[in-house]
Amino acid sequence: MTEHQTIIVETSGRVGIITLNRPKALNALNTELMNEVVGAVREFDVDQGIGAIVITGSEKAFAAGADIKEMSSKSYADVVNEQFFGAWDELSRARTPIIAAVTGYALGGGCELAMLCDTIIAGDNAVFGQPEINLGVIPGIGGSQRLTRAVGKAKAMDMVLTGRQMKVDEAERLGLVSRVVPKEDCRAAAIEVAEVIASKSLIASAAAKDAVNRAFESSLVEGVRAERALFYSTFATDDQTEGMAAFVEKRDPNFTHR
Ligand code: CAA
Repeated sequence: MTEHQTIIVETSGRVGIITLNRPKALNALNTELMNEVVGAVREFDVDQGIGAIVITGSEKAFAAGADIKEMSSKSYADVVNEQFFGAWDELSRARTPIIAAVTGYALGGGCELAMLCDTIIAGDNAVFGQPEINLGVIPGIGGSQRLTRAVGKAKAMDMVLTGRQMKVDEAERLGLVSRVVPKEDCRAAAIEVAEVIASKSLIASAAAKDAVNRAFESSLVEGVRAERALFYSTFATDDQTEGMAAFVEKRDPNFTHR
């Protein structure tokens, strides 16, 4: 397996687990960490033994944002020429469902990384925010777009323009997070949900994820059309035959991901 400096990569059954591991910097997302996370997701994504991925941090911080110390000396030419943050976009193209297990701070790029995942399970100490405005910049890993789609314009403007932190009860009320659990149970809860997802047909879960994401990326008409085509495509799989046969025969399905 690939060596990592800033993350810990593990598997538990069919679940891939990526733990951000720069505790002294509250898991600030520097370029090395970005490349390691993206590389680990890429490896899991082509592994048919993996049916879901969990990305998590520490109890104090999921991630406190992009690494301000790394960024502070960069010029306009630097960020343009490096396509700074560009590698993060690859996460949104993963076919494997990704769950963010968020405890503590999810600020700036940390909030954006959580929103790049397919769903967020939060500990009761989770705090979300886009404080880039306090640094004289704006969100740069999709925060202005994904937060607005998740919580609506008024709340997103409030967060992005003031830089205020949002506690987890408000985040749950707005639909930014799917479940809230005691902070010490967050990692286990996310793995449990990931195990449920990973027990399904991988082809069907990838299609389901693709279909839901179309709701964010296209009009209703285009989204419904895409969903119908994806639905039809599942009838080309062994897993559709097996899943429906298992129901009729009153037994558990044995999906082969084919
Ligand atoms: N980048 C680099 N280092 C960071 C960091 C970051 N985003 N966040 C925290 N750290 C470092 C601190 O510098 C500190 O290091 P030293 O011990 O070497 O000084 C260490 O982590 C611990 O941090 P604090 O002492 O500040 O911890 P705290 O408990 O007092 O405060 C906090 C916690 C409120 C999260 C505070 O650290 C903070 O405000 N961090 C910055 C949050 C932020 O602005 N994030 C947005 C970054 S910009 C961005 O993400 C752009 C984008 O769109 C992608």
